[in-house]
Amino acid sequence: MKVLFASSEIHPLIKTGGLADVAGALPIALRAKNIDVKLIMPAYSGILEKLPPVQSRRNLGNPFSVGDLILLETHLPDSDTPIYLVQCQSLFEREGGPYLDSHGNDFADNDIRFAAFSWVCAMITQYGHLIDWQPDILHLNDWQTGFAAAYLAAWRLEHPPVVTTVHNLRYNGSFPIEQFDRVRLPHDLLNLHGMEFYGRYSALKAGLVYADAITTVSPTYANEILTPTYGDGLDGTLKAVRHKLFGVLNGVDYNEWSPSIDPYIHTHYDLHSIDQKLYNKLALQRENGLPESPEAPVFGVVSRLTEQKGLDLIPDAIESALEKGAMFILLGSGDKVLEQQYLALQERYPDQVSIRIGYDEAYSHRLQAGIDMLLIPSRFEPCGLTQLYALKYGTLPIVRSTGGLADTVFEEGQHANGFVFQHANTEDLKSAIERSLVAFNDLEGWRIKQIQAMSQDHSWDRATATWINLYQSLLNA
Ligand code: ADP
Ligand code: GLC
Repeated sequence: MKVLFASSEIHPLIKTGGLADVAGALPIALRAKNIDVKLIMPAYSGILEKLPPVQSRRNLGNPFSVGDLILLETHLPDSDTPIYLVQCQSLFEREGGPYLDSHGNDFADNDIRFAAFSWVCAMITQYGHLIDWQPDILHLNDWQTGFAAAYLAAWRLEHPPVVTTVHNLRYNGSFPIEQFDRVRLPHDLLNLHGMEFYGRYSALKAGLVYADAITTVSPTYANEILTPTYGDGLDGTLKAVRHKLFGVLNGVDYNEWSPSIDPYIHTHYDLHSIDQKLYNKLALQRENGLPESPEAPVFGVVSRLTEQKGLDLIPDAIESALEKGAMFILLGSGDKVLEQQYLALQERYPDQVSIRIGYDEAYSHRLQAGIDMLLIPSRFEPCGLTQLYALKYGTLPIVRSTGGLADTVFEEGQHANGFVFQHANTEDLKSAIERSLVAFNDLEGWRIKQIQAMSQDHSWDRATATWINLYQSLLNA
């Protein structure tokens, strides 16, 4: 079975969030099960330097009048996973990130950029014989690839089944309708049952309505997005296609995220040597200029600073814990107001709070290994990967009960591995923090929870069977 897996970010090449982690791991796990998966991503600046030399190159022409689109093929470093890159200097070779310029603003032509990328994905399903590889399944991820489903619908040619995975419904890739002609799609797609979205048009909606199957990254989020609260204006659309909507929980790449082999952390440990985790805590405190204190409970955050993550609730909710001697360490970037709030907290508690604004992959590992509790008070969370990393590191997550957090973190029962609260308000979060402090003071009970957390298996290996069944059912349909 041949699967073309399209993503706008892939770890370790480029990453803004969990999508990159998934795209960098699920295809490799599927290849280990003999599924012939190839990745495809735009050739952003600096990407080719991170990859082995290009093995093939094909010019697909200039359909968007922005310069030629060139399809390159190589493979991921340290693996035999093939990857196609869509090269187009005027679209992808720029300062900034994959979606934002260096001032943090969306690129004004993101519609054209990701339409062009998606057009190439759609073309491969039709003209794969030109590159000796024709996919049986086209697997799209998020709005950046949704246009591919629209091209296939517009061309009205036979094509392989399309799966769209929604990692985050909030980012719907919608653009002013006046710009629609820029993406070279026919106007008959612009209707309520097509790409039209509240007077705009949406690439994600195209990915939903024109796909043969839709998945999202946890069972709970799959139910939540059918409601107005979580549906972000697409709940009606999703309800109409719920027969083809499935929740498939993400996995974790334990080759990257295991405290027994993690090259970034101070001291390795596992289920049988949890005591050694303490050395990572002391190293983290040292690294941040905080007093080395084995007893102080250390709370942490690794996150994009956005409304989604509910991080505005923490400064007030954690105050009483800080007053009792707890510590708080944050790594994140995004919302400038939140950044300032956290820096202000650090000024008030210089010996207990350490705030690092920025993005730092290696430090995120040291943080997960060194802290005792990870705070994730998300307003919504399609899956969430940081709680899964925390579990593996014996760091107990404190989460709001939503999406993938609700599916993986439990406070009660034999699987208790963390702390869970219901409502996105300071009081609820504060009370969960208080409960975690009481639990932390009972070392024996804490160890039981840590063992439970560390023994849970969220490997991709588990999820691949579900994926293969889904692909197979589409081929048999
Ligand atoms: P989301 O995709 O919504 O941001 P996830 O929990 O699925 O949330 O994935 C976030 C990923 O990004 C994790 O791998 C996390 O460790 C990483 N991450 C988030 N913020 C930072 C940061 N400031 N520095 C390093 N890694 C980060
Ligand atoms: C999105 C979601 C996050 C999920 C990730 C990977 O960024 O916000 O919850 O874990 O995608 O699927």
